[in-house]
Amino acid sequence: MILNLNPETQQDYFLFYEQNVRPLLNTVASQPITGYHGIDTHTYNVVFRGVDYALKLRQNPLPVLFACALHDIARTDDTYDKNHAYAALPKAALILKQFSDHLSQEQHSAILRAIQTHTEGRHASDYISACLWDADRTRLSWTRGYRERFFTTPYAKRVASLSNPGVYLRYQALILKRPLEDRENILADRNKNLQDEVLSSLKKMLRLNQGR
Ligand SMILES: [Fe+2]
Ligand SMILES: [Fe+2]
Repeated sequence: MILNLNPETQQDYFLFYEQNVRPLLNTVASQPITGYHGIDTHTYNVVFRGVDYALKLRQNPLPVLFACALHDIARTDDTYDKNHAYAALPKAALILKQFSDHLSQEQHSAILRAIQTHTEGRHASDYISACLWDADRTRLSWTRGYRERFFTTPYAKRVASLSNPGVYLRYQALILKRPLEDRENILADRNKNLQDEVLSSLKKMLRLNQGR
């Protein structure tokens, strides 16, 4: 396969994903296109963040881009399902085969390893796993609260612990030269969780007032 551009900047890598990798996902993915874990919602952002995190480490973002693009392709819905990581491997291998001229055997194996372990990995064995896991877990951190032990790379720790994730979304919009968008519904989800917290503490206060 001839790649029609040579990525250099973060925007180039993302365009490379959109033009060369994203169209192939439809051929093998059982993952929904939209929704909480969709290709054009969740995966879209994980690819952006993964490439960003790899560049900040001064590492080659290409293997990370593939790991991020392919990590959830065997999902069928949003339910809790650890098996989707393992089930993604044959599908991912089919896609990677098309880029075999551009990835070494070591990179190929590292991409599959990062995908296989992304649901339960604790200690990343290389930067590819580290960047995929960090990029995947950033949303959860923004909406449910930051826990340092789930993150590996220093820059991702800074991003995931942002008190206002809108700052990062604005940065992403700037890099991609696109309007500000929130495809993972981070801001809505975060507000919902904040509302839930306020609501539950209000309920607790009410119960106390009623002597219960
Ligand atoms: Fe996943
Ligand atoms: Fe994911």
